[in-house]
Amino acid sequence: MHHVNKSIELVENEFARDVVAGLSADVKTLPSRWLYDERGSALFEEITKLEEYYVTRAETSILRERQADIADFIGSGATLIEYGAGAGIKTELVLAGLRDPRGYVPIDIADAFLAETSKRIASRFPSLCVRPIERNFLDVFEVPFDGSDGRRTGFFPGSTMGNLNTIEAQALLMQMGRHLGDGGRAIIGVDLQKNVDTLLRAYDDRAGVTAAFNLNLLERINTELGGDFRLEQFKHVSRWNEIEKAVEMHLVSLCDQRVTLCAQTFLFRTSETIHTESSRKYTAESFERLARAGGWKVAEAWQDADALFGLFGLIRY
Ligand code: AVI
Repeated sequence: MHHVNKSIELVENEFARDVVAGLSADVKTLPSRWLYDERGSALFEEITKLEEYYVTRAETSILRERQADIADFIGSGATLIEYGAGAGIKTELVLAGLRDPRGYVPIDIADAFLAETSKRIASRFPSLCVRPIERNFLDVFEVPFDGSDGRRTGFFPGSTMGNLNTIEAQALLMQMGRHLGDGGRAIIGVDLQKNVDTLLRAYDDRAGVTAAFNLNLLERINTELGGDFRLEQFKHVSRWNEIEKAVEMHLVSLCDQRVTLCAQTFLFRTSETIHTESSRKYTAESFERLARAGGWKVAEAWQDADALFGLFGLIRY
């Protein structure tokens, strides 16, 4: 009885619930959003600077080189609504190019990060009305209109769209349509399909930063859920899934072993994996199909010089 109560109490925690459900499934999986605790977020920042991880560099180069085109697409007097406030440089590149921007609404679940980004943007753009919203952008919620909003533009860079499954991606596109209203526009960054070796290297760097980022999820489970994962008995791998057109991160069990957390025991066979993230890669055509299904049409498609990354300008139809 004591055990039952304890496990009910623990599974009420969302993280615990996801971990227990994910490790109980026939094919073990953990939702990628749990990769981002404090250490995970710091490791991801390091990833964005790695030579192998071309994603951030390629997208930033588009934002720099196409700053004027992007500003023309957004138009003057706009409010920028950002889904998942990033470290800021990309947002600043967009805002700096705009004529008479009115507002900036960053939406992020991490309140400390959100406060920091909001403060920095507000001090760099003093005439901008900055109204942060502390939410998971996948939840259903409203973005209240401010009297001076002007036309709203959604901004969703970084290829985070690629980490969502099809249902989540479509639901988010539809929610963006509701938030941005008639005449609303959106700028979305997605990573493009390319040579598989380049893709796999981007998710398994020589310095082992991506491996540390992936394994940190087990460390987080140990710390927050009292797990007894032995990290040295798991290995990070990146795999290309040709059907899903996605790079997957997995943690491979190096031996037969059992792991206990939340008063439950999970068995791992040698070579069995935990799938921790999918990073979908698009073509201009496959992204256009996704956008259309979510209520948007592609009006502009910008790429970097090496055609690694795509930034799309969408209009609500
Ligand atoms: C945040 N997201 C877009 C990254 C990606 O490329 O899918 C997360 C990441 N995972 C491993 N490396 C980077």
